[in-house]
Amino acid sequence: MHVLITGGAGFIGSHLAEYHLARGDQVCVVDNLSTGALSNIEPFLGDPSFRFVEADILHWSDLGKTAAWADRIYHMAAVVGVKKVLEDPVAVMATNMTGTEKILRAVHGGGWNPQVVIASTSEVYGFNPKGSFAETDDIVLPSAGRLRWTYAVTKLADEFLAFSYARKYGLNIVIVRLFNTIGPNQVGHYGMVAPTFVRQAVHGEPLTIYGDGAQTRSFCDVRDTVVALDRLAACPRAWGEVVNVGNDQEISIRGLAELSIQRANSSSSLQFLSYKEAYGEEFEDVTHRRPVLDKLRALTGFAPKWKLTDTLDDLVEQERAKMLHAVRDSREWPRLLTSSSARTRY
Ligand SMILES: NC(=O)c1ccc[n+]([C@@H]2O[C@H](COP(=O)([O-])OP(=O)(O)OC[C@H]3O[C@@H](n4cnc5c(N)ncnc54)[C@H](O)[C@@H]3O)[C@@H](O)[C@H]2O)c1
Repeated sequence: MHVLITGGAGFIGSHLAEYHLARGDQVCVVDNLSTGALSNIEPFLGDPSFRFVEADILHWSDLGKTAAWADRIYHMAAVVGVKKVLEDPVAVMATNMTGTEKILRAVHGGGWNPQVVIASTSEVYGFNPKGSFAETDDIVLPSAGRLRWTYAVTKLADEFLAFSYARKYGLNIVIVRLFNTIGPNQVGHYGMVAPTFVRQAVHGEPLTIYGDGAQTRSFCDVRDTVVALDRLAACPRAWGEVVNVGNDQEISIRGLAELSIQRANSSSSLQFLSYKEAYGEEFEDVTHRRPVLDKLRALTGFAPKWKLTDTLDDLVEQERAKMLHAVRDSREWPRLLTSSSARTRY
């Protein structure tokens, strides 16, 4: 199978690439490396079944050709992360909406009908107070002018774009509302909580909790997520549908911080920051966000395999390995070898 992954050097995209290469598929990744990293796809660069194109989906001249080559497209490229969204809402609107429309137009123009997965987000449920969300639940967003919701609005627009193309042209598109996804290759720079907590715990720094930490989330291991996305893409009953993807086990953010400290065997403390201190402005956080997964189960039989403790253990191990590499890389050459007295010994 030919697989095109936009945003394939990012967190979820790079796992999709690894998953499909392991199955013997040919994979093409396009990414502008804005939040993604070459290191995420470095292990595949020598593989003849893998191709990487460094390009912006807004300007990529080969998009039409590559969309026509693909049997399956995962559209993961987006501007993500709360910090990025607050810093540059204009870029969020352009990439997330124009980018998605370009992909859909290319798919329609390709004359071929590949399976397409469009990444949306649990953020689209907005501040609906329910806490547990099924796909039929109402979307509750503020009337206007609150930049914090820019990301959700762009993803909701993507959903409607995808529905329109699926309905009008009969395209095989499934829209996935991803809930919090965690695992290797995720970075904390853009406000992602799990990698930040694990890094702080491993380094013995205080874990910074925004708000009082009573807000809850459900975390799904990315290695479960890619299985769900693969099954949905291949499921004709899912085409033209929106489906929640995640893990329905809930934990408070404070609970996640404490668990990270415990798994890292760390003596870090907890530090509480107001949203204003964290983001430089008032921020409306969502109190509870848990997916109802009945639709995903009914369509694919999917059940997550990874437990949160196992994912955290994995992240702790990787953070320790990174720390060790950093120490090795920064170590000076032993004086004995570089000093003139050492050289004269030969
Ligand atoms: N990780 C989560 O918990 C989560 C939750 C909900 C939704 N999502 C969605 O899943 C998708 C993947 O997210 P992720 O967590 O892997 O984030 P990520 O930032 O690691 O991946 C996004 C990738 O898109 C690339 N990109 C951004 N703009 C681009 C452009 N104009 N052209 C080409 N490439 C571009 C980035 O460089 C990055 O590699 C996104 O669409 C995101 O909205 C993720």
